[in-house]
Amino acid sequence: MKITIFGTGYVGLVTGTCFAEVGNDVVCVDVDADKIERLNKGEVPIYEPGLEELVDRNRKAGRLRFTTDAKAGVEHGLFQFIAVGTPPDEDGSADLQYVLAVAGTIAEHMSDYKVVVDKSTVPVGTADKVRARIAEVLAKRGASLEFDVVSNPEFLKEGAAVNDFMKPDRIIVGTDNPRTTELLRALYAPFNRNHDRLIDMDIRSAELTKYAANAMLATKISFMNELANLADRLGADIEHVRIGIGSDPRIGYSFIYPGCGYGGSCFPKDVQALARTASEVGYDAQLLQSVEDVNLRQKEVLFAKIKQHFGDLAGRRIALWGLAFKPETDDMREAASRRLMEALWEAGATVAAFDPEAMEEASRIYGKRADLQLCSSAEQALEGADALAIVTEWSVFRSPDFAGMKQRLKQPVIFDGRNLYDPDRLAAQGFHYYAIGRPVQEPTSEGSSVRLATGA
Ligand code: UDX
Repeated sequence: MKITIFGTGYVGLVTGTCFAEVGNDVVCVDVDADKIERLNKGEVPIYEPGLEELVDRNRKAGRLRFTTDAKAGVEHGLFQFIAVGTPPDEDGSADLQYVLAVAGTIAEHMSDYKVVVDKSTVPVGTADKVRARIAEVLAKRGASLEFDVVSNPEFLKEGAAVNDFMKPDRIIVGTDNPRTTELLRALYAPFNRNHDRLIDMDIRSAELTKYAANAMLATKISFMNELANLADRLGADIEHVRIGIGSDPRIGYSFIYPGCGYGGSCFPKDVQALARTASEVGYDAQLLQSVEDVNLRQKEVLFAKIKQHFGDLAGRRIALWGLAFKPETDDMREAASRRLMEALWEAGATVAAFDPEAMEEASRIYGKRADLQLCSSAEQALEGADALAIVTEWSVFRSPDFAGMKQRLKQPVIFDGRNLYDPDRLAAQGFHYYAIGRPVQEPTSEGSSVRLATGA
């Protein structure tokens, strides 16, 4: 099948590449000439496991092409995917200008029937706007051409995006016309395996499903973070509580990890956008607002613990492990690391940071500054630091050489925003170990530890 994808960001690039991988003829269009040039050389601008290989293979097979030529793109595909960004406006609502610009471009150049598919996460009602924009441009051209608009939201997770696309839990198709459901069913047949995963519904419900999924997951995290803060104050251990509640299948073990706040390009943006949509229709979405507020507060918790331990932070040097918003990505959008570094800098401290993938991204965002040292290894970051803070749970941070760590750090103090270690073990090795929602232990050298009162 012939497919055109507008937008070569995370969603567009993964979608286009995976459609090509199953034998389709795919053209990806982007306005960023630089990016297209890099993609045409086989360079993938984002770090996503497995993606580069797939792009390379399909590009060489001639099934995956990249261009800035929108007209050629429109002519190519029966399916026209809109996968451009919807960044938050100042008020938190999603900015639709790029989505609607693509709709206009499609209408301008189309000469036969097209299925226009909204893949970007867009507010409820966007498909209507896309349809209206296409109709308006076609009318101006005096062209009477048929088209359909479909909502087909993407549920990929960064770091596992290729797998999520190739083996989806569900394929949501929102249509107002049964013929498009059948077209989308045929398009997704290679991914719709073992049992029928295609769920079709009306367009508005499909648009809302995407926000509902992200808001539910964000709610689970904020709920656990709230409980962790409570555990801190009550002298309970959130890790026991997590295992205790997760054993109930109605609750489940996934997405109930407390931490230093959720980040990324989806949760913060989508929770805000949904709350904004609610207020536009006169509904005060209190729970959504709280999910967002708890998350913003959670991004301050690690800093508060550091501040409480040291008092004055001026002149202190803090080693930071992890910059990306989660492991297996170099994405730092809304990452907990950013708020922590900024708070440390405001307090006069310096940061020595290491991340397995996000070093370039950090230097792109912050440039050269005296209070940020971007280190070439986790060990180098520790050298002469007053303490270590951890904000991303990369596997390589899970089992460090604690003895070596003690030698490199000026003081054996760890602030762990991801609850990676066993507090008893760390106390026994002589560390002051602060985690999220776990009792702080007094370090001992005898191999036993004493429980202290609560942390920050
Ligand atoms: C998310 C959704 O999972 C995906 O379905 C949607 O399409 C896009 O948004 P992503 O942003 O890639 O995907 O990351 P995800 O793995 O969901 O993690 C989001 C954030 O939540 C990360 O900062 C992560 O550290 C945090 N998180 C996750 C927790 O703090 N605790 C958890 O239990 C799970």
